[in-house]
Amino acid sequence: MKLVILGANGMLGTDLVRTCKFEGIEAISLDLPEFDITDSKQLESRVPEGDWVINCAAYTRVDDAEREIDQAFAVNAEAVEHLASVCNFRGIPLLQISTDYVFDGLSGKPYCEDDPVNPVSIYGKSKLKGEEAVRALSGRYLIVRTQSLFGVNGNNFVKSIGRKLREGDGRLRVVEDQVSAPTYTGHLSGAIVKLVRSGRNGTVHVTASGSCSWHEFACAIAERIRPGAEVLPVTSEEFNRPAARPPYSVLDNSRYLSWTGEAMPSWSDSLDEYLKEPGAL
Ligand SMILES: NC(=O)c1ccc[n+]([C@@H]2O[C@H](COP(=O)([O-])OP(=O)(O)OC[C@H]3O[C@@H](n4cnc5c(N)ncnc54)[C@H](OP(=O)(O)O)[C@@H]3O)[C@@H](O)[C@H]2O)c1
Repeated sequence: MKLVILGANGMLGTDLVRTCKFEGIEAISLDLPEFDITDSKQLESRVPEGDWVINCAAYTRVDDAEREIDQAFAVNAEAVEHLASVCNFRGIPLLQISTDYVFDGLSGKPYCEDDPVNPVSIYGKSKLKGEEAVRALSGRYLIVRTQSLFGVNGNNFVKSIGRKLREGDGRLRVVEDQVSAPTYTGHLSGAIVKLVRSGRNGTVHVTASGSCSWHEFACAIAERIRPGAEVLPVTSEEFNRPAARPPYSVLDNSRYLSWTGEAMPSWSDSLDEYLKEPGAL
């Protein structure tokens, strides 16, 4: 099998390339600055042949997107629309990575794939447009919605809490009113490979099992790297970030389980596994 990976140098892309190597899958890596998915000429002429195109490229700065609206839509929506047309024209299936931020997080129960969407941020709106384009224009496709990623090649929550724990006075304030399932990109990459091998088509949720607030996740990190640190719960309102976040955006993974026969590891086991990686903190 040969996978063409866009956004291959990002947090997820790096682990996906690594997983391909481990699984004996040929991976063609494309990313900025040589390859820009918003450049239609490059999309038309430089996407190589492959069994699947996996799009991990995205505008991911959720707060900045509130003022860089055009840039967020250019990468997450317009480029994806063009990519879907190119892949369809060339008969290459497209796997698009999407996000829990397409939901408003007000339902209070884990979201299934067909639940109504209602993004509350520019980032979420731009990613939803990308999803809609893939559904409308692709022949064969997978849309993989995931959330709260952490991986070695990114500035993730675990690293940022780890840095504060190591450098600060052992007291942290972390939001307690946003609940998700923090997902390790190493495990998500394994799931992506299973999905492209599954022969399935459509939208699927893939996250770690279980759920926790950012505060609970920070406590779990502290227990592992600085026991005794004081992690204080605060509200999102106190943090006052530019973009709104869904308060409860846990995704129901049942479809992934039924398609692949495998459950994803829990967020807590994933954290343990991640922390064994060189460069995890
Ligand atoms: N991180 C999360 O918590 C999270 C949660 C849910 C879903 N997702 C989704 O998961 C996917 C992977 O996210 P990630 O966290 O791995 O993001 P990331 O680390 O920001 O990686 C994205 C990659 O895409 C590249 N890129 C940006 N604009 C591009 C363009 N115009 N052309 C080509 N490449 C471009 C980036 O390059 P530069 O770094 O040079 O900009 C980067 O290498 C995205 O679809 C994201 O929306 C992420």
